[in-house]
Parts: sequence; structure tokens; C-alpha cells
Amino acid sequence: MKNLFMADRMDKLEGEAAFAVLAKARELEAKGMDIKHFEVGEPDFPTPMKIREAGKKAIDDGLTFYSPAQGYMPFREAIADYAKQYKNIDTDTSEIVVTPGGKSMIFFTLMCLVNPGDEVIYPDPGYPAYRSMIKYTGGIPVPVNIIEEKGYSFDLDELESKISDRTKLIIINSPGNPTGGVLPPEDIDRIAELIENKNIYVFSDEIYDRLIYEGTTKSIASIASVKDRVIVADSFSKSYAMTGWRLGYGIMNPVLAEEMTKLQINCNSCTSTFVQVAGIEALKGPQDEVDRMRGEFMKRRDLVVEGLNSIKGFSCMKTAGAFYAFANIKSTGLESSELASTILEESGVALLDGASFGDNGKGYLRLSYANSEENIMEALNRIDLLMGRIMKNRRAV
Ligand SMILES: Cc1ncc(COP(=O)(O)O)c(C=O)c1O
Repeated sequence: MKNLFMADRMDKLEGEAAFAVLAKARELEAKGMDIKHFEVGEPDFPTPMKIREAGKKAIDDGLTFYSPAQGYMPFREAIADYAKQYKNIDTDTSEIVVTPGGKSMIFFTLMCLVNPGDEVIYPDPGYPAYRSMIKYTGGIPVPVNIIEEKGYSFDLDELESKISDRTKLIIINSPGNPTGGVLPPEDIDRIAELIENKNIYVFSDEIYDRLIYEGTTKSIASIASVKDRVIVADSFSKSYAMTGWRLGYGIMNPVLAEEMTKLQINCNSCTSTFVQVAGIEALKGPQDEVDRMRGEFMKRRDLVVEGLNSIKGFSCMKTAGAFYAFANIKSTGLESSELASTILEESGVALLDGASFGDNGKGYLRLSYANSEENIMEALNRIDLLMGRIMKNRRAV
């Protein structure tokens, strides 16, 4: 292929380790290796029956046409009610934009708000799409460390020190990927204070907020004095086990909602109409399946954390949300990138190097525990055996 060219901006876009490791794991599986998957953040449960039925019925009822670009009105109404009930946000349909998944909201927000040279503060380690999209829009990524000793929360003084005249946006994510850390309500209040008299937006990624096992968090958009400058992103992928349906939304001021709708028109036209109808059932129907899945995740969290802590050289904090364990492996003296590859190649356990979520994730491994207890036990056993061998060989050298 000759004379292929690419726009310069494509150099700035990054991939995602979860998908790269999944591809590698699939290759090994094709060669006959038994792989236990802990790399992708995806519930292993099927979408709850009532939601599936609502989606199928919507197709049969003929809801197979475009919806309004901003989102199907009865769905936006359901989201407004849900936001009041679960997030304590006063909103209405003019402030809601429905998108195919929560990820689009990251893309749209950065495209709408960031000019080249603008600074964007984001968590490190954090979801890789943040840094990738900041760079793509020409923004300057300004990482703020997420600190293990603080329960994987920010040091708020450090966060404050990173705010400058060029800061346009602060990204927060609670419960967080990749650590499962939850920002306590008082931290959210302090972040609101930090932006109160400044022209800075906050992007609040709340896609794991139904998966909290202890304590509570708070949506920064529930604070009236800053609500106009908050974009809440939420998604059905994790709470309702709907990753493949591609359904999410944002809540923001109506002026920004109009701009995001323009992006939607140019990009997707709209989110699939019958998927939005299934979303109404998810939000308005019984929530017992969400509760059941959360209960299962909590049991698995306890199992994973206990198992990881019993592996020599590993330590893992029990965090209160999402379905990720973030194990500190610094005292093994090994590089986390190398160890993640070795664990996959030699033990058949696919997991992620913490550094793929930012420099501050170096020395950690992320395991998504959205997997059966049986697989968790098997994977932990394999890692334990491997670590025993590695440590023994090192002592022998
Ligand atoms: C923190 C965070 N935000 C956003 C997303 C995007 O999810 P989706 O596009 O499936 O809604 C993910 C997915 O893993 C995530 O972990």
C-alpha cells in the first residue's frame, strides 16, 4: 500500500490496554491455552431479562426509526427522574443528551470544551480515554495522582496546586477505574469549592455509582452553585450489564447540551431507539437485579482482595466500588508491565499493568473481578504458584 497518509491528530490518539491484552489472550486461546480473563471491565452477567424483553418488544412495536438526536423524550424523562432519585440532581430533559455508551460523553465533552493549549486535570491512574482525548483535542494533560494511602482518592491540595489560568476542565471518576476508590462526599464538596469562582468545568464520570459496597459518594452536580459547570456521564454498561447495547447519557447545562447534540448529529445521528426503550425499563423497572449483581461483585471483591494479599510480594487495598482490584506489587521488585505479560504467558491469567492507566499506576496490576468465584480462585492459585517460582529462582540467582 503506497502513499497512505493520516491526519496529524491521529498520532495523539491512544488505544486501550484492555483491548490489546484481550487480543493477545485470544491468540493464546486459539493456540489451545486456557485463559482466565480479568482484563476487560465487563460484567459477566447477562442483561436482566426484563430489559432484554423490553428491547425485543420495542423492535416488534416498530421503534426501529431514528429518535431525536438528543434522545428519545420518554427516555430522557426517565433519566431526569432517575437523576433526582439516585444522584439528587435537579434536572430536566433539556439538560440530557443520550449517547451510545458513556465513552461518547468523554469524546463529546473534550471536543466541546477544549482548545489547543487548554489544560485539563485528570486522575492518574485513570481511565485511558481521558488522557487520549485530552491530547487529541490539543489540550495539555495535567495528571493528579490518585493515592493508595488516601484510599485511592486525590490529595486535594495537590489538585488545587495544579489549577491554573489555563485550566478548562477537571475530570473526576468515582467510584474509579482502575482502583475502585470512591471519592468521599467531603472531597466532592472541596472540589466544588475549588471551582466555585472560576470558569472551570468538571466532568464527573459516574458510571460505577450503583456499584458501591460501603459508604457513599455524591454527585458534584447535586451542588446547586456549580451544577451549570458540571457534565455528569453515566452509562448502562456496568450497572445493568449492558456493555454491548451501547447506552449512556450526559447531564449538563442546556447550552452545552445543544452543542453536544450537534456533535451527535454529525457523528451518530442518534442512539438506537429501541435500545433507549430498553433503557426506560432498566431505570423504571425493578432494581433487584442491580442489587443482586452488586451483592455478587462484593463477594468476589472480598475473595480477590483476600487472595491477592496472601500472595508473597502483593498487597491489595479493599476499595469500596466498581469491580476492580488494584494490587500493589512494588515489593516484588518486578516491573508491573513485565509481570503482567509473564502472568498471561505463563499462567494464562489476563490482567492489566497499572501503568497502562498512567505513570502513577506503575507497580500495580489491575484485575477486573467481574468473573466467577471459580475462575477467581483458579486465577489466584495460578498467580500464587507462578510468584512462588519467580521468587525462588531469584533467590537462587
Ligand atoms: C471510568 C469509565 N468511564 C467510561 C467507560 C465507558 O463505558 P461505556 O462506553 O461502555 O459506557 C468505562 C468503561 O470501562 C469506564 O471504566
